[in-house]
Amino acid sequence: MLGFKSSFFSHMENNKVDSTREAKMVKSPFSESKIIERANLLRDNDLYFFFRAIEETEASTVTVKGKKQIMIGSNNYLGLTHHPVVKEAAIKAIEKYGTGCTGSRFLNGNLNIHEELDEKLADYLGHEKAIVFSTGMQANLGALSALCGPKDLMLFDSENHASIIDSSRLSLGTTFKYKHNDMSSLEELLESNVSRFNRVIIVADGVFSMTGDIMKLPEVVALAKKYGAYVYVDDAHGIGVMGAQGRGTMNHFELTKDVDFNMGTFSKSFASIGGVISGSKDAIDYVRHSARSFMFSASMPPAAVATVSACIDVVTSDDSILTNLWENVAMMRNGFKELGFYTYGSQTPIIPIFIGDDMKALQMTKFLEAHGVFCTPVLPPAVPKGEALIRTSYMASHNKADLATVLEVFAEAKKVFEIPSSIH
Ligand SMILES: Cc1ncc(COP(=O)(O)O)c(C=O)c1O
Repeated sequence: MLGFKSSFFSHMENNKVDSTREAKMVKSPFSESKIIERANLLRDNDLYFFFRAIEETEASTVTVKGKKQIMIGSNNYLGLTHHPVVKEAAIKAIEKYGTGCTGSRFLNGNLNIHEELDEKLADYLGHEKAIVFSTGMQANLGALSALCGPKDLMLFDSENHASIIDSSRLSLGTTFKYKHNDMSSLEELLESNVSRFNRVIIVADGVFSMTGDIMKLPEVVALAKKYGAYVYVDDAHGIGVMGAQGRGTMNHFELTKDVDFNMGTFSKSFASIGGVISGSKDAIDYVRHSARSFMFSASMPPAAVATVSACIDVVTSDDSILTNLWENVAMMRNGFKELGFYTYGSQTPIIPIFIGDDMKALQMTKFLEAHGVFCTPVLPPAVPKGEALIRTSYMASHNKADLATVLEVFAEAKKVFEIPSSIH
């Protein structure tokens, strides 16, 4: 067994900085910052797993530094980035409309295919109206800051994505956090605050990005009805995956009509970049005329619009894609369970592996990489202290032989590293 100190920073602090890099470094006020100090410590210990340059990709395998690896760290859940129909649609859009729109949808960058995609998404998601933004982050920033004005309140889950945290910083309203998926914590906040604010909006991830937990939407909807609040679901990891033909978490719970605002991104299942907000006709028209990240930023490029449209066509016409995905997810969930890893009870394609110690999570990522498996460590502050994990996620396009190899490599890693089989 390898020996680990509880904190990788204390473990590495005494290590010498690589002399070649030190010689090349020009000192600036940023050199002293904790962020730079930590990044350099990781680099000097060969444990820096960020900004890895991918040289080639076939979706479920990638080549890094000339070595082919099985990718289990991507959000390409449907594996559509390399689907022939999807690629063809993107190429045709470039040929017809060029590479970019050079303006916002509000002014000169609104193509007919943006409007067609708005309508297609409204229909697919089951809401009256939808509008597409240039990224999912911009969709949250723009919509939430527009919806939560000075007299309004946003209540959000403590494990929500960074884009929601930043939306609350941008909004002129008040924000309170409730404990993750804890309905009594949410109800306490509703009870003591609804009378003090104009609009109250409950905001949560449909599928939580790090742990793969699903939001308790039925309970949230019941509380929203009881206290007259709005429900806003960030379904970045649910769209394309959850519900019938991937129509999302609200569809999975058959609560589409009870969700006031549904946000989705195209940077995961829909193999591209962009975001969407859907809801009632007037609410979406309101967002369209007040979300600054929509009005003052250039629109989605034509190839991205065509990609998303083709992805919807593929996932609604070819059932085998979601069948493969869920088969792969079941295989990995059962496999990790048999090996004795703790996977947070995940019910989605995101299967986190609890490691605990930061240093161990980094060493294990290195071990996995050396054995041809690409995945990502998640360290505090993205997770609570002492709860480092390795985030793994699966695609419809993974083949069973590759997944069996991944399980074999994890079994080997378990012999080398002491990994707790539960979080407590
Ligand atoms: C839950 C959640 N919301 C929003 C976003 C932002 O999406 P995008 O990558 O389209 O900006 C992400 C992306 O990581 C996410 O995981």
